[in-house]
Amino acid sequence: MELRYWALTDAPHLLSVYRTSSGLERQMPALTNEQDTRNLIETSYLPADNRAIFCLCDEGRPAGLVGLNYTARTDAGAWDRAWVYYWIADPYRGQGYTKAALTAVCNWALDETSSAPTSPVLDTGLLASLPSPRLRRLELGYRTNNPASGAVATAAGFQIEGIEREKFLYAGQTYDAVLAARLRKDGRAPASLRHQEAVSRSGFHHVELWTESLATTLPSWAWLTQQLGWTPYQKWPGGISWQAPDGSYLVLEESPDTTGPHNRTQAGLNHLAFTVPSAALLDTLRSEATNHGWSELFADQYPHAGGPDHCALYLENNQGFEVELVAPNPRT
Ligand SMILES: CC(C)(COP(=O)(O)OP(=O)(O)OC[C@H]1O[C@@H](n2cnc3c(N)ncnc32)[C@H](O)[C@@H]1OP(=O)(O)O)[C@@H](O)C(=O)NCCC(=O)NCCS
Repeated sequence: MELRYWALTDAPHLLSVYRTSSGLERQMPALTNEQDTRNLIETSYLPADNRAIFCLCDEGRPAGLVGLNYTARTDAGAWDRAWVYYWIADPYRGQGYTKAALTAVCNWALDETSSAPTSPVLDTGLLASLPSPRLRRLELGYRTNNPASGAVATAAGFQIEGIEREKFLYAGQTYDAVLAARLRKDGRAPASLRHQEAVSRSGFHHVELWTESLATTLPSWAWLTQQLGWTPYQKWPGGISWQAPDGSYLVLEESPDTTGPHNRTQAGLNHLAFTVPSAALLDTLRSEATNHGWSELFADQYPHAGGPDHCALYLENNQGFEVELVAPNPRT
């Protein structure tokens, strides 16, 4: 796989990718024929002063895109900020291509290329021959129900800055979006580096929960961590973990040493409490939790079961694990 610029001759292949891959209808305008596709390439993908859009190319044919649209200039007139986006065709997903491409393009755009490792899966030689725009800030957004996009962004050093509530309205349904950014001053900051930062601070390094049945409890935790903007971190046959934006992580493991079901009213762990960025997101989580293996506790007192100054949602999953989701109190 190689990173190169787009060309008008990519139109037939791009149209075919658009027609056969899922999730691309929100990444570009509707394409109905080759002329539409040529127009898109000409007006939005070919090199221009205000953008750098790269094609992930497999044996001459376009397989994906990583693009920067420059959005703001410094007082002196140089480009300062860009909006980043990416997609890849169905057959190439899950093989690390987008992570590698996004990381390389962002390192180049921020001029963080000096110590950047070369990717074994992607030829990024073109970037080495191009002057970096030396941007200061890169921004991107993805729907909270798109964990693959979140994993790609995290791997490329983006840090979550917030949740945009009901950002998108598609087919009558609203979607929250994660807003993430990477600054030049962050340096090259993949997840493992943020993990190192977490290790050197006092606070939780990780929390490990043992379960009798990973299969039973996994969906509820996967949903919750995704909603909170955590990203998949590690995976092995008996376990999985998710990483918080601060680098700490939560492990869920099916251990052969488990001696019985979890009982939160016995000595030991009673519940875990997570921070939720807004009361509105708390309401959304409350309305959706029962579809994802959670039931609500103290529902008649929501959101102040913990007291008038405390805004929280209490949930219990199908294995008796309790979580408390704490949001800023709208009354204060
Ligand atoms: C999002 C998208 C770009 C990901 O591309 P990709 O090439 O499959 O990504 P990579 O293989 O580089 O990495 C995917 C990561 O997401 C993780 N992932 C994939 N599906 C996941 C899921 N359902 N839950 C959690 N993590 C998931 C993978 O495990 C992998 O992380 P890992 O390497 O740490 O295991 C691709 O699915 C796509 O084009 N989707 C449609 C367009 C889109 O959503 N673009 C982003 C809009 S902002």
